[in-house]
Amino acid sequence: MHSFGYRANALLTFSVTILALMCAIASLSDNLNSPSPTAQLQVLNINWFQKKSDGDDEVSMSLNVSANLESLFTWNTKQVFVFVAAEYDTPKNSLNQVSLWDGIILSKEQAKFSIHTTNKYRFIDEGSNLRGKEFNLTMHWHVMPKTGKMSANKLVMTGYRLPVAYR
Ligand SMILES: *[C@@H]1O[C@H](CO)[C@@H](O)[C@H](O)[C@H]1NC(C)=O
Ligand SMILES: *[C@@H]1O[C@H](CO)[C@@H](O)[C@H](O)[C@H]1NC(C)=O
Repeated sequence: MHSFGYRANALLTFSVTILALMCAIASLSDNLNSPSPTAQLQVLNINWFQKKSDGDDEVSMSLNVSANLESLFTWNTKQVFVFVAAEYDTPKNSLNQVSLWDGIILSKEQAKFSIHTTNKYRFIDEGSNLRGKEFNLTMHWHVMPKTGKMSANKLVMTGYRLPVAYR
C-alpha cells in the first residue's frame, strides 16, 4: 500500500512532466509566439514633385527604411515578404495605398536591416490630391511558414506631409 506522501510525490512528478511537455510544445508553437518587430521609416528627401501631363500627381522621394524583423523568424518561418506603403485619404477614397518598396527576407540574419532607397514603385495619385497631403507610412509583412497558415501584420507611422507646392 502506498503512503499519501508517495502518491503526492508521484502526482507532482506527473504534473511536472506534463508542465515540461507543455512548455516544449509552447516554445515550438508559432501561435503562442508573439513577435515584436520594430521599424523606422524616414523620408530623407523629396527629389521631385509634379503634376504629370495627364493631370495626376507624382512624387519621387528618398527613404530610409530600417527594421528589425528578427522576431518573425522561428523554426517554422520560410520567408517574410515585407513592403512599405504610403497611405492617405482623398475625397474619392478613404484609403489610398501606394506601395513604395518591398523585399523578401529569407533568414533571421537578413531580418535586421537599414536601407537608403528612392521609391522602387512610382508614387502616383489618380488626380491632383498630393499637395500638402498628410500621409502615413506603413510597413506590412506577410510571414510564410513552412507549415500552417500565412500570417500578416503591419506597423503604422503617422505624421508625414508632402510639400504644399510642386518642385
Ligand atoms: C536610417 O535610420 C537608421 C535608424 O533610425 C539610422 O541609424 C541611420 O543612420 C539612418 N540612415 C540615414 C542614411 O539617414
Ligand atoms: C494614419 O494612421 C492613423 C492611426 O492608424 C489613422 O488614425 C489615420 O487615419 C491615418 N491617416 C491617414 C491619412 O491615413
